[in-house]
Amino acid sequence: MASVATIVGLWTVQLLPSTEPTAEPWNEYRLPDTLVPDYYNITLWPRLQPNDHGLFVFTGNSSVVFKCLKETNFILIHSNKLNLTSIDGYLAKLSSLGSSVAPSIQKTWMQETTQYLVIELNSILKAGELYELYTEFVGELADDLAGFYRSEYDENGEKK
Ligand SMILES: *[C@@H]1O[C@H](CO)[C@@H](O)[C@H](O)[C@H]1NC(C)=O
Ligand SMILES: *[C@@H]1O[C@H](CO)[C@@H](O)[C@H](O)[C@H]1NC(C)=O
Ligand SMILES: *[C@@H]1O[C@H](CO)[C@@H](O)[C@H](O)[C@H]1NC(C)=O
Repeated sequence: MASVATIVGLWTVQLLPSTEPTAEPWNEYRLPDTLVPDYYNITLWPRLQPNDHGLFVFTGNSSVVFKCLKETNFILIHSNKLNLTSIDGYLAKLSSLGSSVAPSIQKTWMQETTQYLVIELNSILKAGELYELYTEFVGELADDLAGFYRSEYDENGEKK
């Protein structure tokens, strides 16, 4: 009985509110229904020789054209294990494809737990408008069989 009580006690401690993440949208695993992607243009450039640090990497860029369904002042996009390149001081660049001017960016950061790149804006995205989000990044081309990875084999003594 004593051990059961201990287990219940531990569970109670874990459920205390102080250990819960805040209800911010970037802490939610489900994306909000404010924005919907139209298409993605993605360029990936794998480097088949290690860089100066002995690391195999790929560089890339991505343009996502998305439509705003409900007005919002932030953008969430999945991003994991990528080093995003700073563009004019932020991790992404936003432009408008419609008649209105795109809001300026207030803050960008990586929310590691939910694997999001978060873009907070100084004003709202307008419902019905199309926007483009551009990013540039470097990632490791590891041989870990995960994501975009590197695989090598020998053929007649030659590494391929
Ligand atoms: C995406 O690529 C297509 C084909 O090259 C090009 O016509 C289009 O303008 C590109 N869109 C963006 C947002 O980069
Ligand atoms: C994306 O990267 C490719 C390869 O480096 C480059 O040719 C292309 O111009 C880049 N796109 C943009 C919009 O900068
Ligand atoms: C990404 O940045 C971290 C921290 O600066 C660095 O240790 C790592 O090597 C970088 N990864 C790539 C693939 O450049």
